[in-house]
Amino acid sequence: MSEVIKIEGGHKLSGTVRVSGAKNATVALIPAAVLADGVVTIFGIPTISDVDALATLLRELNTDVSVFEDHIIVDTKNIKNTPLVSPAVGKLRASYYFMGALLGRYKEVTIKLPGGCDFGPRPIDLHLKGFESLGAKISFDEEGLCHIKAKRLVGKRIYLDFASVGATINIMLAAVRAEGRTIIENAAKEPEIIDVANLLTKMGARIRGAGTNTITIDGVDHLSGCYHEIIPDRIEAGTFLIIAAACSKRMVIDNVIPQHLDALISKLEEMGVDMEQVGDSIIVYGNDRGLSAVDIKTQVYPGLATDLQQPMCALLTQANGRSTIHETIYQTRFKQCDQLNLMGAKTSYDPPMAYIEGPTPLTGTDVSATDLRCGAAMIVAGLVAKGVTTIHNVYHIDRGYDGIERKLIALGARIWRETYEDEE
Ligand code: EPU
Repeated sequence: MSEVIKIEGGHKLSGTVRVSGAKNATVALIPAAVLADGVVTIFGIPTISDVDALATLLRELNTDVSVFEDHIIVDTKNIKNTPLVSPAVGKLRASYYFMGALLGRYKEVTIKLPGGCDFGPRPIDLHLKGFESLGAKISFDEEGLCHIKAKRLVGKRIYLDFASVGATINIMLAAVRAEGRTIIENAAKEPEIIDVANLLTKMGARIRGAGTNTITIDGVDHLSGCYHEIIPDRIEAGTFLIIAAACSKRMVIDNVIPQHLDALISKLEEMGVDMEQVGDSIIVYGNDRGLSAVDIKTQVYPGLATDLQQPMCALLTQANGRSTIHETIYQTRFKQCDQLNLMGAKTSYDPPMAYIEGPTPLTGTDVSATDLRCGAAMIVAGLVAKGVTTIHNVYHIDRGYDGIERKLIALGARIWRETYEDEE
């Protein structure tokens, strides 16, 4: 059985939408819980399938896990360092955070390589080099399992060739239980890194500088349980800002940290979108004057997030003139262009660039959520298109967007899910 999402486009949206907890923080916070001796309670958990996969992996490690509507409780009193080899590892990219967390706790981990969205090469060499710098030896067996083992983990100065989000977090997870001081230079500065550092600090870790490009970690012998509240999802918030810019009369996007979205907000303003920030909400007013084409360039935080590039691409099909996208993080992340063209868009790409001629009327047809944020792009396009858009491979969307249909229906969208038998 497979599911599709169907959207009847062309309806103006209005009302308030509340943003959920940040997926890309959640998927690191949950593995981080295995570092604690005690009970870790994390509030603000989004209802997404990545959380289910991580809970499965925690259960394979013999931890007691309870997942509730908005929080998760992880108790490590019976934890065992079991090799993580089940299909759940391949369901998401963030299973790699068990590398750093288990290495920190046990000095040893065996794990399959992670899965996640396929939009081009996604190496983890910087993670592994970081573990090696801390004293670990790494090997791969014939089945492709990765074995990481250290006699001792000893703090080191580690310079990242690229400010990788995953490598920064993974090295931090291992280093909190290493002997002595680790300094991560050219560290990534994304808000999710600060969130993970905050959780670890509440457990008893000694971390300074998270959110800057130099993070200093003094290893400790013991970490304990704690309570933690996840930051709001800046990518979900950004996706709703883009949806509002595409088709709303007046939309209030609530539970937002506006400064996390500065780059997107200024691009939307450049396009002619009227917005107002009120506390932790952003109000987007409808734009009847038409949107202007813009040039965008994805960059590490605080630059424009690559995860918003794909839904932005869908919005740019509605802007007047020729827009360009320069994708500097994942140079081939353009699968949405082929799908948008099926709906009548005029886009082309030659990585790392994409070009969008607008405005083009879009017409509903069968399209695929080839990856999570391509799925977000299809939702934006489906909401503005004439007729019904049928989005296939919706499991990608379910990995990262909490209650997307429920939230859109409350805003007045005509969106629903259908199940069908797979052909043999
Ligand atoms: N890179 C390397 N070697 C490494 C690690 C990264 O060359 O060892 C390169 C990558 O190939 C890429 C760049 O560095 O060109 C950035 O990768 P980064 O490690 O920062 O990304 P990530 O940790 O794999 C996270 C998010 C992504 C998001 C990126 C960039 C999670 C689980 N994933 O991935 O989120 O696009 O940071 O911000 O946190 C999504 O949410 O749709 C998503 C893909």
